[in-house]
Amino acid sequence: MSEQKPPAAAFGTLDATYQAAGGEAGIRRLVDSFYAIMGQNPAYARIYHWHRNVPEARDKLARFLCGWMGGPRRYREKYGPINIPQVHGHLPVTNAERDMWLNCMAEALAEQPYSDELRAYLREQLAVPAQRITDRCAVQAGLKTQSE
Ligand code: HEM
Repeated sequence: MSEQKPPAAAFGTLDATYQAAGGEAGIRRLVDSFYAIMGQNPAYARIYHWHRNVPEARDKLARFLCGWMGGPRRYREKYGPINIPQVHGHLPVTNAERDMWLNCMAEALAEQPYSDELRAYLREQLAVPAQRITDRCAVQAGLKTQSE
């Protein structure tokens, strides 16, 4: 009988996702790819040009994702508390810009040495805050009421 390895902790449990993503260094590589792709692919030019300071946004997103994946709360350490929909409230994010962001992230995930399971899990999980942002921006723009 072949030797059985204990199953890896499920993503979303403690810091399992953070570890699988390669810890802080792995997450920084993911975010570097994400912004490099966003800057190069004209399909994402619209959201790229919304950024006031790309190097800072890169640091902020990487730090945020460390805590979001169950690792150390690097964003809070440097920048304090954050509410994701709120920090995007000044941007006119509709379904089109949400999809640009998610597609760009899918391309960046494809460049990482991750398992297909981790890539699929992250795509699915990142769609949740992306939708919250979109809903919040629609309310801000007067397109939706809070109760919708
Ligand atoms: C829905 C599509 C999204 C778009 C179009 C978008 C776009 C942007 C832009 C343009 C900025 C820079 C804002 C500025 O310079 O004024 C930003 C900042 C940021 N975004 Fe997003 N974003 C999206 C989704 C997300 C998601 C899903 C996350 C987290 C999982 C995220 C995390 C962040 C963080 C942490 C910052 C820095 C906020 C700060 O401290 O000011 N974004 N985003």
